[in-house]
Amino acid sequence: MSERSEKLLPATLSGVRPGEGPAVTEVIAQCGLHTEDITAELLRNTILARKGPRIIGTVALEVSGSFGLLRSLAVLEKFRGQGVARQLILAAEKSARQMGIHTLYLLTLTAEKYLSRRGFESIERSAAPDGIQDTAEFKSLCPDSAVCMKKSIA
Ligand SMILES: CC(C)(COP(=O)(O)OP(=O)(O)OC[C@H]1O[C@@H](n2cnc3c(N)ncnc32)[C@H](O)[C@@H]1OP(=O)(O)O)[C@@H](O)C(=O)NCCC(=O)NCCS
Repeated sequence: MSERSEKLLPATLSGVRPGEGPAVTEVIAQCGLHTEDITAELLRNTILARKGPRIIGTVALEVSGSFGLLRSLAVLEKFRGQGVARQLILAAEKSARQMGIHTLYLLTLTAEKYLSRRGFESIERSAAPDGIQDTAEFKSLCPDSAVCMKKSIA
C-alpha cells in the first residue's frame, strides 16, 4: 500500500444538523476564513467532514443559477494533509452537479496551488458571472489580492 493511501483519513461526510451552525462557524473561523455572511441557506448547502462526533472540515456552495461559489473550504490544522479537503471538494462537486451547476468559482488568498491541483484554473476576477460577483465574498469580504479560480464540472 502506498504512503498516500495509508494516510488518507476516511472522514464521514454529511450535512449540517439542527443546532450545529455555531460549531460550523467556529471551525471556519479557526481556519482563518470569514464567517460574517453565513446564512441559514448557506448552512443548508454546507457539507461537513467529521471524525467521530467532531466536525473537522467544511465546504459550502453559494448558488447562482447554473454557477456556484465554492466557499468555506476549511480543514482543522490537526487533520490536514490526509485528503479531507479532497473528499470535501469531490462531495461539493457532486452536490453542485445535482443542483444543475456546471461551473464553480472561488476566491482564495492562500490555496491557489492546492486548488489548481484539484482542477481549478486562475481567472480574472472580472471574468466571473454577475451573480457570483454579486456575492458578499466578491463584493466586500475578500480583498482584491484574492485569486479568482474557476472549474467546469459539467
Ligand atoms: C486548503 C485546505 C482546505 C486543505 O486541506 P487538507 O485536508 O489538508 O487538503 P488535502 O489533504 O486534500 O490535500 C493537502 C495535501 O495533503 C497531502 N495529501 C492529500 N491526500 C493525502 C493522502 N491521502 N495521504 C497523504 N497525503 C495526502 C498532499 O500533499 C495534498 O496535496 P496534493 O494532493 O494536492 O498534492 C486546508 O489547508 C485549510 O483549511 N486551509 C485554510 C483555509 C483555506 O485557505 N481554505 C481555502 C479557501 S478557498
